[in-house]
Amino acid sequence: MRIDIITVLPELLKSPFEASILKRAIEADLVEVHFHNLRDYTTDNYKTIDDYQFGGGAGMVMMIEPIDKCISKLKSERDYDEVIYMTPDGETLNQGIANHLSLKENIIILCGHYKGVDQRVRDQFITREISIGDYVLSGGELGAAVLCDAIIRLIPGVLGNETSALTDSFQDNLLAPPIYTRPRDYKGWKVPELLFSGNFPEIEKWREEQAYKRTKERRPDLLDE
Ligand code: ADE
Repeated sequence: MRIDIITVLPELLKSPFEASILKRAIEADLVEVHFHNLRDYTTDNYKTIDDYQFGGGAGMVMMIEPIDKCISKLKSERDYDEVIYMTPDGETLNQGIANHLSLKENIIILCGHYKGVDQRVRDQFITREISIGDYVLSGGELGAAVLCDAIIRLIPGVLGNETSALTDSFQDNLLAPPIYTRPRDYKGWKVPELLFSGNFPEIEKWREEQAYKRTKERRPDLLDE
């Protein structure tokens, strides 16, 4: 998989890809992540990427030309499955969207800034608009990092234990059950006895019950879907 991220602040985005699972995925060639600084696609001396809104109103708007130049260059080099725009008015990211996108070959992610992009960018180039939640960030970069993390960890081979993504919260619309590790007894706070029984069908049943109970208490909306 290849991800091209278009941003005015590449430095804000880079560190999540330089540590941990994402770094390993990149080093193992399971994913390629490329950053494109929009200012490199401007034509004036000031490297202008934004301008005032037509019709008046507070806040700057990202101009279409540098974005067109950048996206068109990328598209001339390869085909893209999706051109995603990170925006608070997009569809809210969930595990289903992450699963779907993890199967794609090439995607572009455009990070918005200021008031956002000229509507013609959205009309002409964008195939999908994604929000990471009902709050406004100062730019799309942190949203793009969240989206990339959610996608990349699902690419086969990225997680050490191939089954571990399958048992994540949300994969079956249920939250994950409680988990424990050593010590068995810490200050008198004990791990449930059943987990030492060796009775794996019973343990599996307990986990399913716990997952259901937790979901019912915390996220009953998931059970309606
Ligand atoms: N840009 C600004 N706010 C955002 C959000 N909530 N999700 C994605 N991109 C954003």
